[in-house]
Amino acid sequence: MLNIAVIGLGWWGRIIVDLARGSDKLRVVRVADVNPQAQAFAAERGVPFSSSLDEILSDPAVQAVVLCTPHTLHTGQIVAAARAGKHVFCEKPLSMTRRDVLRAVAAVQEAGVTLAVGHEKRFEPPIIELMRLLKSGALGTPLQVEANFSQDKFLTLDKDNWRLSGAEAPAGPMTATGIHLLDLSIGVFGEADTVFTSVKQLGSALTNGDTLAALVTFKRGGHALITAILATPFAGRFAVYGSKGWAEVRDKTHPEAPEGWTLTTCFSGGRAQSVDMPPAPAVLHNLEAFADAALGRAPYPVPREQMIANVSALEAIFRSAASGIVEKVEGDGR
Ligand SMILES: NC(=O)c1ccc[n+]([C@@H]2O[C@H](COP(=O)([O-])OP(=O)(O)OC[C@H]3O[C@@H](n4cnc5c(N)ncnc54)[C@H](O)[C@@H]3O)[C@@H](O)[C@H]2O)c1
Repeated sequence: MLNIAVIGLGWWGRIIVDLARGSDKLRVVRVADVNPQAQAFAAERGVPFSSSLDEILSDPAVQAVVLCTPHTLHTGQIVAAARAGKHVFCEKPLSMTRRDVLRAVAAVQEAGVTLAVGHEKRFEPPIIELMRLLKSGALGTPLQVEANFSQDKFLTLDKDNWRLSGAEAPAGPMTATGIHLLDLSIGVFGEADTVFTSVKQLGSALTNGDTLAALVTFKRGGHALITAILATPFAGRFAVYGSKGWAEVRDKTHPEAPEGWTLTTCFSGGRAQSVDMPPAPAVLHNLEAFADAALGRAPYPVPREQMIANVSALEAIFRSAASGIVEKVEGDGR
């Protein structure tokens, strides 16, 4: 069992507390939030509450923290937790800039702790199958990704909610949902090379934009066409087109309450075939993979280079959304 403290008890932190409480790999020993109203949730779950991260980090009973806080706090909290010798699971995005993600990764490397990120899509069974097909060569050379992750959950948020601020979500839907698709695209193609992004406010009062389209090119070749919309009902789709076949995953519901997926594949000379796949708790599987890594049982399946590549591309997407032109993704030159 890994003793964890969940930091940030908003929408996602509460989901994570309840998932972890049902796991035999994780034990929630403390929770923290700066908002005293979150104390009632902690009391209901019978978990000690704290209003400060420092207090959590000085508790030797806490082996790891799970950060479910606003985006701009992540880097500082990862660095502080690593320096205190705690393993870190951080919700997406790990950081908002390449400089910051390099700082976060350096801190965990120096401390010798595990770093994991809340990209649960990688743990969804149809995505695991799609990646297996890709790796086996069954799809041939990957040519293009087309992906969409949309939802209308933010339409009722107060205007001053952090998720709608230019600092926390500079490219509107990108940090909310598009980032998951960017992560998967990097899983397919590796490091990104250039990005062109357009964000518009078309269907809501979300002033930092509700409709995003991004074209990402990759150093090894290939394109990803990513769309994310915050003013339309839920949609989730990830498709990879290759030289010998293609595979498409369609989500039935939002990852907060998975109801399964449809996986469609088509190979050269054949016809498209669809299978329905039953629900699976991908968010929990991600947390348990983190626990396994922190306890030295298995490496965490998302490589750190891909965590860095994701945030590097994210930062270029922010720049492109602001400049309106193609932006180069910073990298190590390889
Ligand atoms: N993986 C996913 O699919 C998924 C889904 C939703 C949200 N998220 C991520 O989870 C994170 C939180 O999002 P949310 O929707 O739960 O937001 P939220 O606003 O509902 O919750 C954030 C919580 O953090 C608390 N907080 C703020 N500053 C803090 C600090 N310094 N220390 C401790 N607590 C602090 C707030 O009081 C609030 O309760 C974000 O990174 C978001 O992108 C991930």
